[in-house]
Amino acid sequence: MDETEIKGYVKGLVQKYDYYDPIKDRTEALRFAKLKGNSILDIGTGRGFVAILAAKEFKCRITSIDLSEDKISIARENAKKEGVLDKITFRVADAGKIPFQNNSFDAVISFNALHHSKGNSEKIITEMFRVSKDKVVITELNELGAKIFDEYIHPEENHSSMALNLNELINSLKQNSKVNVLERRLMTTYVCEKSMRRDKR
Ligand SMILES: C[S@@+](CC[C@H](N)C(=O)[O-])C[C@H]1O[C@@H](n2cnc3c(N)ncnc32)[C@H](O)[C@@H]1O
Repeated sequence: MDETEIKGYVKGLVQKYDYYDPIKDRTEALRFAKLKGNSILDIGTGRGFVAILAAKEFKCRITSIDLSEDKISIARENAKKEGVLDKITFRVADAGKIPFQNNSFDAVISFNALHHSKGNSEKIITEMFRVSKDKVVITELNELGAKIFDEYIHPEENHSSMALNLNELINSLKQNSKVNVLERRLMTTYVCEKSMRRDKR
């Protein structure tokens, strides 16, 4: 086997032994967050995978934002192919300055997007809590996840250098809300409920 074949083989094993399954990981995060039929803002939508799943399988109404025009047009194409274009509104926007009013959505979600804006993650989290009526749901890679992504999933990116410190992340989330945690092998999902915070400000 040459190096490309070996990487392809190992990537297959990573999926086979349930280390990484893109659909399952997103489905479990949405299920754990108990999102069904809600209005959701998806920040850093990328190619729209979690947004499409939330629209298709969880009957949610989604607004998806991304900094990149290219990503938004790919996500729109994907939503069209999956028959959920009418359930998702796409918009180019910066999650560090979300163009919606306070409490506009039932939930605001970010699936493996925060580390793509590492230096701005505190500001983005503040914005997510501002525009959510209640839930803020964040999934981020753990240390092993960043390594596996670098080796086998997205070797063109450097996730180890982008990855967030998950201890700092949960401490920051706990200041705003009650936090429930779902740990998977490569990533962790944090479901924050504003309504459950002790010191309402
Ligand atoms: C890995 S993708 C997200 C994957 C996607 N959530 C999914 O379910 O497949 C990360 C995305 O975050 C976007 N992004 C990075 N910084 C952003 C920001 N400040 N505001 C909005 N989007 C941002 C990038 O353009 C990229 O498309």
